[in-house]
Amino acid sequence: MKEVKIESTLYVYDNLSELPENIITLMEKAIEAREKAYAPYSKFHVGTALLLDNNEIITGNNQENASYPSGLCAERTAIYYAGSQYPDAKVVRMAITAGSKLKTTIAPIPPCGACRQAIAEYEVKQDSPIEIYFMGETGKVAKSNSLANLLPLGFDKTSL
Ligand code: THU
Repeated sequence: MKEVKIESTLYVYDNLSELPENIITLMEKAIEAREKAYAPYSKFHVGTALLLDNNEIITGNNQENASYPSGLCAERTAIYYAGSQYPDAKVVRMAITAGSKLKTTIAPIPPCGACRQAIAEYEVKQDSPIEIYFMGETGKVAKSNSLANLLPLGFDKTSL
């Protein structure tokens, strides 16, 4: 038996203004998307903006449904749209912001497990890392250099 340790590294910034201009711009697009989320049930609004290597920016937000499991997270709304419209483009980075209408969200909100799995599919497909930036409505911003860093021991096509 041997012990196997798996490490993840995050870079945490005190607030958005510490980041380079291009990241601030991408996050601002995510904030705009968050403001248009359809989340009448959870009141938890999530927005994302992703940059493709053809310079297109795709945004998305969560879309809820009275039949709760039929709703979809912001990250998958955006990445599936990108995959459907630009099948040959690579995703360079993704900015994510989330906030509840019931309280102020100051902690960085990471993508849920299902979204990590969905984003991982594209990272494997394009064979290059996708940077992930995530935040609440305000406060700290966390950066991961890749999706794989957020999903250790991921399941992908190499397992099939
Ligand atoms: N949600 C997202 O859009 N992304 C995530 O990564 C986590 C959760 C949405 C789903 C649902 O509409 C609401 O947030 C509460 O879970």
